[in-house]
Amino acid sequence: MDKEFHLIIVAAGKGTRIDADIPKQYLEIAGKSLLTHTLDAFSTINGLKSLCLVVNPNDKVHYERIMMDWSKDIPIQIAFGGRTRQQSVHNGLDTLSLRDKDIVLIHDSARPFIDKRDINALLNALEHNEGASLAYKITDTCRRVSELDMAQEAVSRENLLGLQTPQAFHFGAIKKAHNLCDLNKEYTDDTALFSDMMNCDVKLVEASRHNFKITTKEDIAMAEKILSSNVLRETHIGMGYDVHAFDDDVSNADVTTVRLCGIDVPHDRKLKGHSDADVGLHALCDAIYGALGAGDIGQHFPPSNMAYKDMDSAKFLEHAVTLMKDRNARLINADITLICEKPKITPYKEQIQLRIAEIMGTLSARINVKATTTEGLGFAGRKEGIAANAIVSIEISHD
Ligand code: CTP
Ligand code: MG
Repeated sequence: MDKEFHLIIVAAGKGTRIDADIPKQYLEIAGKSLLTHTLDAFSTINGLKSLCLVVNPNDKVHYERIMMDWSKDIPIQIAFGGRTRQQSVHNGLDTLSLRDKDIVLIHDSARPFIDKRDINALLNALEHNEGASLAYKITDTCRRVSELDMAQEAVSRENLLGLQTPQAFHFGAIKKAHNLCDLNKEYTDDTALFSDMMNCDVKLVEASRHNFKITTKEDIAMAEKILSSNVLRETHIGMGYDVHAFDDDVSNADVTTVRLCGIDVPHDRKLKGHSDADVGLHALCDAIYGALGAGDIGQHFPPSNMAYKDMDSAKFLEHAVTLMKDRNARLINADITLICEKPKITPYKEQIQLRIAEIMGTLSARINVKATTTEGLGFAGRKEGIAANAIVSIEISHD
């Protein structure tokens, strides 16, 4: 029978050594965030009873999205991390209410390559030891260096092991060790803290070197290669087009904005429609449905259905994004053109790109919005309405 365990994943770090716009655990690697890869790897291990995710409250937009995708029945709770890894683990332990003998695994979010056999070996090691960690044999010749990176004395690799996570403890013992420890000491793993506080050795279990910690940009590139290698990818494109007329029934005096691509752009005329008439988002949804081979917006949200009356079109886009996820697709880029004489779109382009990225859970760099007039020609030129074109490119992965 599989041994039962509880899991703390520390994901409150800033990833300073990678120096990206967002912390490394939220960077997208082969179509999913690094943290999602780590969670997915654990979700296939049978003994997992509960999960505590330790995060930085400033990363709310990122971790909430990841939690929404956690479809397993295993209970998940959030704890807020601290300035150091040690403090983050401490806070995670504080949120758990477990029995002293329950097993807790502590794991870095930045290690997506865990191996089931290694985890089982680690859990078995805890039967006869107070604590245990995965570790790998150093195979390179080692030298200590001076500050100038000049080689100094040789260090025999015979007795050198690199420590990984997960690390395993009984809840009562690791909680006691953390409570005894000065929070400002900055241990970079829990076995060193545990050995010092409890005055005992921990067992090191030899594990796969695959389980490396993603620490630098080079590691990201390596992880991308590994995670992409057994997946067949296809690029699809789709296009969408939509038109809405201005609503002559609404008195201009009452109108101050028009809804375009998810934001309210200052204007004195509204567009007519069953929903909020967001012509830009409708075109974008149709482009996504097209790329997925999933029909069109009218099929998913028939105008005859009163439930969609005055609906915020962001909901339609969220639906299209859910369909993408269901089919293992991710957005490569989207390009939207609004066709109108007025309002002028350029001052709002950036805000629109950010809003669409927010709804879609992607980077704003993947979204481009532009506008054109028709030089006074046709219905757009006569200011009778607004048209929008959208084209998207998506990548569908087949495992
Ligand atoms: N971690 C944490 N709280 C901290 C610091 C680190 O929860 N205050 C987590 C990280 O999110 C990561 C793990 O501990 O999953 C291992 O830490 P490390 O690889 O050092 O990540 P960062 O501290 O984010 O990276 P860096 O040291 O480059 O800033
Ligand atoms: Mg760190």
